[in-house]
Amino acid sequence: MRIGILGTGMVATALGSAWARAGHEVVVGGRSPEKARALAAEWGARAATPREVAVESDAVLLAVLWDGVDDMLRLAGAAEGTLSGKPLMDATNAVDHGIGVLHRANAEHVAETAIGAQVVKAFHLYPAEQWNGDTSGVVVPLSGDDEGALAVVSGLVRDTGAEPWHFGKLDSARQLEEVAGFVIRLFFAGADPRAAIPGRSRRG
Ligand SMILES: NC(=O)c1ccc[n+]([C@@H]2O[C@H](COP(=O)([O-])OP(=O)(O)OC[C@H]3O[C@@H](n4cnc5c(N)ncnc54)[C@H](OP(=O)(O)O)[C@@H]3O)[C@@H](O)[C@H]2O)c1
Repeated sequence: MRIGILGTGMVATALGSAWARAGHEVVVGGRSPEKARALAAEWGARAATPREVAVESDAVLLAVLWDGVDDMLRLAGAAEGTLSGKPLMDATNAVDHGIGVLHRANAEHVAETAIGAQVVKAFHLYPAEQWNGDTSGVVVPLSGDDEGALAVVSGLVRDTGAEPWHFGKLDSARQLEEVAGFVIRLFFAGADPRAAIPGRSRRG
């Protein structure tokens, strides 16, 4: 499978390298061609323009800052249908650093902008470094409308060593995004988010 990565930051680096290690053909593009070239060389992958990434890939990861999403989708030609019919994994969190309050339902915004793309909310909850570490026991909740795209993304989750979990349709993605905001806010306040939710041992 040819996996496209839109973005050259921490999440792009972690997942792009994980999928390259899993044997996928990976193509990466960002607003900085130099950064894309450097990452591609590191992974034994290929660098391309965001538009080429969109057109040439079987599935695409969107991993840019939330306020760069529109710029990146524009560079990728998403409004012209370059991602139409393809799984588009949205790993973004539309929150301010450390605060966690959601600015908008980002996966739904991405779906409205990227004409015809099969958007799946995925990989937005765990820190980037997770994907190059121990992923045993890690569950990745997925929200999306297209069963075929969910199946493809589920396979890509398993390629990282984690397990996929179908959370709901795309209109449930906002709930997942709110959870990320909750986790981010507690984490940056110095608390362990896992201590703030009922664990199996406390259910009775
Ligand atoms: N870091 C994590 O642990 C983590 C975990 C889960 C989800 N997320 C989410 O995943 C997304 C990426 O996070 P990250 O940690 O990888 O961020 P990052 O390391 O800061 O990288 C941000 C990426 O966004 C690009 N970007 C920013 N503004 C842009 C614009 N206007 N047009 C095009 N590209 C733009 C940057 O390009 P340049 O390099 O050229 O500046 C870079 O490729 C964010 O939405 C974040 O909330 C992060």
